[in-house]
Amino acid sequence: MRRAVCPGSYDPATNGHLDIIERAASQFDEVVVAVLINKTKSYLFEVSDRMAMLKEITEHLPNIRVDSWHGLLVDYCTVNGIATIVKGLRAVSDFDYELQMAQLNYQLSGVDTMFLPSKPHYSYLSSSVVKEVATYGGNVGHLLPATVHQRLIARLSERP
Ligand code: PNS
Repeated sequence: MRRAVCPGSYDPATNGHLDIIERAASQFDEVVVAVLINKTKSYLFEVSDRMAMLKEITEHLPNIRVDSWHGLLVDYCTVNGIATIVKGLRAVSDFDYELQMAQLNYQLSGVDTMFLPSKPHYSYLSSSVVKEVATYGGNVGHLLPATVHQRLIARLSERP
């Protein structure tokens, strides 16, 4: 079975993430969308909420599984028999960091990374910019799956 992982923070998942997940799902037998937990980062959404949103937006894809992991991505791959990491590349500015991670991950474990170019109209899109625009009342409805958009508006309204 050809199995891949699409790792990320997904805080929250955007249309750009979903595009990469859908395209990975068409290339592999099974794709695990893994929410990676980094203790040093602060997140808007709990891991359980990020996973719930990912499950909702990937319901139409039968070969997707959603999971979470605390630790090195390559350890997750080894434990779960995953040989390939799939990452989206939005712009040249992503490349330096992603190349370093891909080379490091390969050196650590033999797990390879495949890059998918993001669609050009998603090249500026990130969870961070979406959160910032939405925090100040800007419209981000066209950048997110509908269910994620609803949850984002609800979550921001809970904050002081
Ligand atoms: O959505 P993000 O925040 O850009 O995702 C980054 C992520 C989670 C894919 C990356 O930080 C990661 O792989 N973290 C797991 C820890 C790890 O394996 N780091 C690489 C070696 S230092």
